[in-house]
Amino acid sequence: MDGEERRRFTAYLVESAWVLPSIAIPVGMFIALILTTVMGNIHMPGMSDVIDPARAEQTEPFTHLGVRPLAQNYYEAVLLARTWSWTPSEVRVPVGAIVHFHLTSKDVIHGFIVDDTTLNLMVVPGRITHATYQFTRAGTYRFQCHEYCGVGHQAMAGQIIVEGNP
Ligand code: CUA
Repeated sequence: MDGEERRRFTAYLVESAWVLPSIAIPVGMFIALILTTVMGNIHMPGMSDVIDPARAEQTEPFTHLGVRPLAQNYYEAVLLARTWSWTPSEVRVPVGAIVHFHLTSKDVIHGFIVDDTTLNLMVVPGRITHATYQFTRAGTYRFQCHEYCGVGHQAMAGQIIVEGNP
């Protein structure tokens, strides 16, 4: 390889190092998008989980607000948000419980954030929000509306009591 050939080969390698990732990265992201859509069931909001806020208490699962066991160690917590309270404002589960939350709002947009957990959700009128969380440590977990919803916003709080040995 003479000097000119070596220079051209080096330029070819350098250009490839830039061009190939610039193709591979968007292709990889597109594949990841397809995989999460299909396998992770992550998608734009569809017409499922739509609810009439005026008839929330007459609509499943909000006909039975509160906590109920579904299976061994598995619970369902159904909470209704309205200005400026949660129904119920207290949830009790045993330590280790896997809790599936269903939330909706009667009126305006509220938020649901639970201290010391990864639970951080929007609670939107007309939609049902779902999340699952396992409480592995006993204690009292405060939850709070984190979307400004009027003069009583800061009082819109409650607690999840996880019972058992801490
Ligand atoms: Cu509800 Cu802020």
